[in-house]
Amino acid sequence: MSNVTIDNITHIYGSGESSVTALEDISFAVNDSEFVSLLGPSGCGKSTLLYITAGFIQPTAGDVRVAGTPINGPGTDRGVVFQEYALFPWKTVLGNVKFGLDHATDKTDTESVARQHIKQVGLEGFEDKYPKELSGGMKQRVATARTLAYDPDILLMDEPFGSLDAQTREILQDELLKTAAKTQKTILFVTHSIDEAVYLSDRIVILSSHPGQKKEIIDVNIDRNQSRREILASDEFEKKSAMARDAVQEEIAAANQTPT
Ligand SMILES: Nc1ncnc2c1ncn2[C@@H]1O[C@H](COP(=O)(O)OP(=O)(O)OP(=O)(O)O)[C@@H](O)[C@H]1O
Ligand SMILES: [Mg+2]
Repeated sequence: MSNVTIDNITHIYGSGESSVTALEDISFAVNDSEFVSLLGPSGCGKSTLLYITAGFIQPTAGDVRVAGTPINGPGTDRGVVFQEYALFPWKTVLGNVKFGLDHATDKTDTESVARQHIKQVGLEGFEDKYPKELSGGMKQRVATARTLAYDPDILLMDEPFGSLDAQTREILQDELLKTAAKTQKTILFVTHSIDEAVYLSDRIVILSSHPGQKKEIIDVNIDRNQSRREILASDEFEKKSAMARDAVQEEIAAANQTPT
């Protein structure tokens, strides 16, 4: 079981007059093998919530449980793809992807597993390059490959496809859906793209503008046996995109009226 429960999470950065309430009393669950996206205006606390779930940040109040057990820090059950790709600059593409496998229990063939994941994100031939020799989108793909390579039950992804061109983004979205279905991953995914959220998710949690509170949860019932084209043309896709767009736009408008 790898379900994630986010229970009454509040997070305040700093203290006194300069404190910032990033999240206020947020609760929801990501069920076993479910794909949940977090959508909301910039600054509403999406990354903060993801990093609390990863165990990198201790929340001011509330707790996160994995399969009913409160987390107390990072763990190999949860793989994180950061908003800023966080690659090791002194390691090659292959070295970065293999690094994730240092945690693997089966170390028999880490190199071929790493190479296979590099290929999956379309970077075959770049194994020996260093991050400084790659574009932003390529770095992002290396970061995704690194996390998928060590096969954690839970994926926490912070805008992993944000800086990719539309075509690469679509390929990686479909690879992620395939991997998720095959390996029963539980996924919490942050994005700014409404279409991406609707295309990928079983449910979308929309956060209100700063401080982030849970505004709305949208259930998405897409038949995953359809092609991308069929999904995008479906009534369900259109209906849920419109719902999500209205909710996010309302929050962006509210954010623009709130002096920060
Ligand atoms: N280390 C920090 N110290 C103080 N305030 C912070 C820190 N990190 C984030 N914040 C504040 O917390 C709020 C939420 O930030 P967060 O990065 O979680 O938002 P986000 O929804 O991920 O935004 P974006 O969509 O732009 O990535 C913002 O007001 C931000 O200024
Ligand atoms: Mg963020």
